[in-house]
Amino acid sequence: MHKDSNQELKRKAAIKAVECIESGMVVGIGHGSTAMEALHCLASHLKDGRLQSIVAVPCSTLMIQESQRLDIPLSTLDEHPVVDLTIDGADEVDPQLNLIKGGGGAFLQEKILAEASRREIIIVDETKLSPTLGMRWAVPVEVIDFGWRSQADYLESLSARVRLRRDASGSPIRTDQNNLILDCNFGPITDPAALAVRIKGRAGIVEHGLFLSLASEVIVGCSNGVRRLTR
Ligand code: A5P
Repeated sequence: MHKDSNQELKRKAAIKAVECIESGMVVGIGHGSTAMEALHCLASHLKDGRLQSIVAVPCSTLMIQESQRLDIPLSTLDEHPVVDLTIDGADEVDPQLNLIKGGGGAFLQEKILAEASRREIIIVDETKLSPTLGMRWAVPVEVIDFGWRSQADYLESLSARVRLRRDASGSPIRTDQNNLILDCNFGPITDPAALAVRIKGRAGIVEHGLFLSLASEVIVGCSNGVRRLTR
């Protein structure tokens, strides 16, 4: 699909999700191009007065900076440990609303925010839907520097093809925590819950991008409208 029309589908989903925000809410904001659409939509609702007394808790440095630029009142999870509603994107969504996230590298904060949220709305374009997780996307795994090759070997022993995420110049990409990301291609994942436990069973592995039972609903931007998927 053409990139621009894809972005248009993301925007449709974002607009629908922002309709769920009510004045006075603490709103979590994920990371990525779809969450960015939601942030811009929220900013315009605050500007025209449709929404008032919102505080936003963005989950990455980039989204904090953009929120500041848009004059969105900010808070933190420390000030608001319970978030009313979080809106975030995803890379792959299965029929049970389990997700792979982390294409943008912020999945650790995204998961912290999701777990602190009363309601987690995931917004995607229709290309993100998948019958089985792992068919379209590798699972990102955040690891600390110390011994990272050993973690890569461990993940390979779980049958993943592992690549250290690098930028265009070939330098390893760093997360906001200054950690590394290993993109782990497991192929189709038949038992994501079991895999999630095995991935976490190793010191040095900080978090992974499998988001299981965390999405309250998924709003899908489609060429013919918007679909709402619930549990
Ligand atoms: C960020 O770390 C990710 O989890 C994003 O939510 C995910 O990669 C979706 O990104 P886009 O909204 O840019 O497609």
